[in-house]
Amino acid sequence: MHYVIVDKDTCIACGACGCAAPDIFGYDEDGTSHVLLDDNQGTKEIPEAQIDDVIDACEGCPTESIKMSGTPFNGDPAKEE
Ligand code: F3S
Repeated sequence: MHYVIVDKDTCIACGACGCAAPDIFGYDEDGTSHVLLDDNQGTKEIPEAQIDDVIDACEGCPTESIKMSGTPFNGDPAKEE
């Protein structure tokens, strides 16, 4: 589990992920979240020091919009599903 992406279709802009992992998640103008590492493409590996925070964010997202994988998403949140 070293790559992360936000599914913009299901994110409800609750804001929890940015609190759990402020170095990883930023917000668009509409409040929905994106991964700062790679413009939400899920292609850049999460830095080791941030992984626990990202897992917390993933578990805390009410809509399960944060996807993690051991392989890159290449911009597609549904890749693992
Ligand atoms: Fe969206 Fe989930 Fe974050 S709803 S703002 S991805 S905690």
